[in-house]
Amino acid sequence: MNILVLGSGGREHTFAYQLAKSERCKNIFVAPGNAGTAAIATNVALSVTDFSAIEKCVVENHINMVIVGPEDPLVQGITDYFAETPSLKKVQIIGPSKRGALLEGSKERAKEFMMAHNIPTAAYASFTKASLEAGKQFLETLSPPYVLKADGLAAGKGVLIIEDISEAKMELEAMLSGKFGDASTTVVIEEFLDGIELSVFVLTDGKNYKVLPTAKDYKRIGEGDKGLNTGGMGAISPVPFADDVLMQKIEERIVKPTVNGLKKEKIDYKGFVFIGIIKVGEEPYVIEYNVRMGDPETEVVLPRIKTDFVDLMEATYEQNLDIMPLEIDERSAATIMLVSGGYPEAYDKGKKITGVENVSDSIVFHAGTKLEGNDVVTNGGRVIAVTSLDADYKNAIKKSYQNCEKITFDRMYYRTDIGFDL
Ligand code: AMP
Ligand code: GLY
Repeated sequence: MNILVLGSGGREHTFAYQLAKSERCKNIFVAPGNAGTAAIATNVALSVTDFSAIEKCVVENHINMVIVGPEDPLVQGITDYFAETPSLKKVQIIGPSKRGALLEGSKERAKEFMMAHNIPTAAYASFTKASLEAGKQFLETLSPPYVLKADGLAAGKGVLIIEDISEAKMELEAMLSGKFGDASTTVVIEEFLDGIELSVFVLTDGKNYKVLPTAKDYKRIGEGDKGLNTGGMGAISPVPFADDVLMQKIEERIVKPTVNGLKKEKIDYKGFVFIGIIKVGEEPYVIEYNVRMGDPETEVVLPRIKTDFVDLMEATYEQNLDIMPLEIDERSAATIMLVSGGYPEAYDKGKKITGVENVSDSIVFHAGTKLEGNDVVTNGGRVIAVTSLDADYKNAIKKSYQNCEKITFDRMYYRTDIGFDL
């Protein structure tokens, strides 16, 4: 098989790493990829939302399967484009249709879906500029903190949690006046749920599903989970507090109704569902759907999957997941993100990365890196994820930290408390 992975982060390097283990995989392409994917695959310079460039790449390289990493191409309809284009019709694409991708592309749509299928979630109402006053009145009926969400994709920045009611009203007005561009033309206001978060990953072929390992992500830049939101500074899998009782509730109340809801609404969905869950007391509630894998969650979830990854993806495309065994490595995985100083605000690029060759007993997944001559240099905010496996999650974390110390680049930063709250 010739397989193309779309994207350029740690998530996509992990997909390529997992594919490279399969004997069924002949050639791996990653577009646009990074310095890490260049070492195990062929990088193709193209934009993940340039569908005609992707078509050309698929046809020229006789690609049989495409795995879509990020949400943008899915929300823009790449799966529908493949289905409608004669030269791409037979290519196995992993990722939901545009209608499926709306579960991430529109928070309002996701809430409507959850309501329609009785999936537990925070109470909400949504507003547009025309209903601003009603929105302010709705805020009065809630107790603080107030949760305001831009309906559309806002690069992870579209959710505001505000203590003060007058500030919440001001922010609502700012959002409806274009604070996040078109993404905040509609704003969802939600009841605040006080609990502990985890992510559940589901692979579905549209009929059947497999629950993949859980993960916990550390979103904020600073120690103690303080400071600005990032794409994720580290992750642990499985989540120690996700015991069988909680997982059974999640499967019965959330996973099954989600997959059945997709079926009932005749939505083509062959791909990953990333369910952001908050555990309030002992009860799980959905806070968001993403229609792709998480990053850096992929860097801890995928290395634990022992099943041949090409077989698993093919079963997803061919809707055979019910007869596909899923074998999971019982060990825990931990990943630590090394980021550029300044991230998630302004940061420099092009800093030489050294010491990766000294890493032992951990896996180095590249994120924002690129090759410059013979050097590997930084090319993004999140630069490298260092993943380790161990029977004890605390040892997995320790191994990753020991190896992080061996890697250097100018103004490198990482959190030193990943997993310490568990
Ligand atoms: P989202 O993009 O919807 O996942 O929201 C980003 C983050 O905001 C989540 O990971 C939570 O930490 C927080 N959040 C979102 N919705 C709620 C809610 N209803 N109650 C409490 N926290 C929330
Ligand atoms: N780490 C969070 C995400 O991928 O959305």
